[in-house]
Amino acid sequence: MSLSALKTFKNPRAKYNFEGRSCSITGVGSYVPARVVTNADLEKMVDTTDEWITSRTGIRARRVAASDEYTSDLAAHAATRAMQKAGVKPEEIDLIILATITPDMPFPATACIVQQKIGAYRAAAFDIEAACSGFIFGLEIGQQFIMSRTYNTVLVIGAEKLSSIVNWTDRNTCVLFGDGAGAAILQNRPESHGLLTACMGSDGQKADLLSMPGGGSRCPASTQSVAAGLHFLRMDGKETFKNAVQAMHNAAKEVLRRCELDITQIKCIIPHQANLRIINAVSERLGATPEQVFINLDRYGNTSAASVAIALDEAVEGGKIVRGDLVLLVVFGAGLTWGAAVIEW
Ligand code: ACO
Repeated sequence: MSLSALKTFKNPRAKYNFEGRSCSITGVGSYVPARVVTNADLEKMVDTTDEWITSRTGIRARRVAASDEYTSDLAAHAATRAMQKAGVKPEEIDLIILATITPDMPFPATACIVQQKIGAYRAAAFDIEAACSGFIFGLEIGQQFIMSRTYNTVLVIGAEKLSSIVNWTDRNTCVLFGDGAGAAILQNRPESHGLLTACMGSDGQKADLLSMPGGGSRCPASTQSVAAGLHFLRMDGKETFKNAVQAMHNAAKEVLRRCELDITQIKCIIPHQANLRIINAVSERLGATPEQVFINLDRYGNTSAASVAIALDEAVEGGKIVRGDLVLLVVFGAGLTWGAAVIEW
């Protein structure tokens, strides 16, 4: 049976043990920087109010990394915690996939810097860039390597220092984002819980809705590009909002369809933590109850690729997800990109 046929199994439990092979999440970990920036702090920086931010987004605070704390540091902390929980030693890791839009630098890959920081010297390491969808893209890529018998232990990380690309004088964007990292260890464990299916999607026709125009080959760094603010994140909030609701709903339906699951069978839904109104709109369309939906964006804001990874770790640590529960992850981000995954914990 081909790998693509895996996606059409009727029984999710049958799928996760395929010819003695399964892709289990054996450990998750997360890390957020110590500094808390509240809405009240932002009121002193830009023309905004706690009332506006809370009612329009649901965000009350976000974490901001220190000036000498980089995406690789956040990622290494989260990875170390995930390895500890999985009982995996650095030398056991075959592959590191790091999802980020805020790498330490354009190259080398931040995954390689993390490799050095955690001592996973045997691993291959690379970055992927799918904005807020990056962690699910990483899970899907990691799953392919596990199921194809190429690797046994894959470390997937979502990590961001968004504070480094946010324009702290632009109230339209600076209130939305935060820093943090989350990580998962994927392993072949036929007797254990597993990643049942994941889907990914993209629409490059809407690439301009969310971008950082400066710093690439199209617009290399120059005094003019800096003066024009091209090295800051830009977003058409309203259009992004509409596209996010539609794409997240479709992605969630797709993975539920593949697993022949009804939304009522899902114990915990972990949506990308960008805006409470987006989360509520997607949940309503899916017919989910508020009790099913995990939310932590009030404390962290939008941490892009780290968002669902941090939330997954917190949901497990907080006892919201226990062994055997079905979990739905659903994401959306720049690109445009989107994705969803079903996990049997
Ligand atoms: N404080 C006070 N007023 C503000 C603020 C603020 N922080 N920000 C914007 N406003 C003002 C605007 O200037 C506008 O004023 P105007 O009517 O006088 O022009 C007014 O509030 C309304 O602005 P809208 O854009 O209509 O506000 P909206 O309700 O759409 O909310 C928001 C804006 C929160 C950005 C929303 O559109 C959103 O969440 N969009 C999606 C973002 C997202 O999901 N991103 C995910 C991907 S991120 C990634 O991939 C990196």
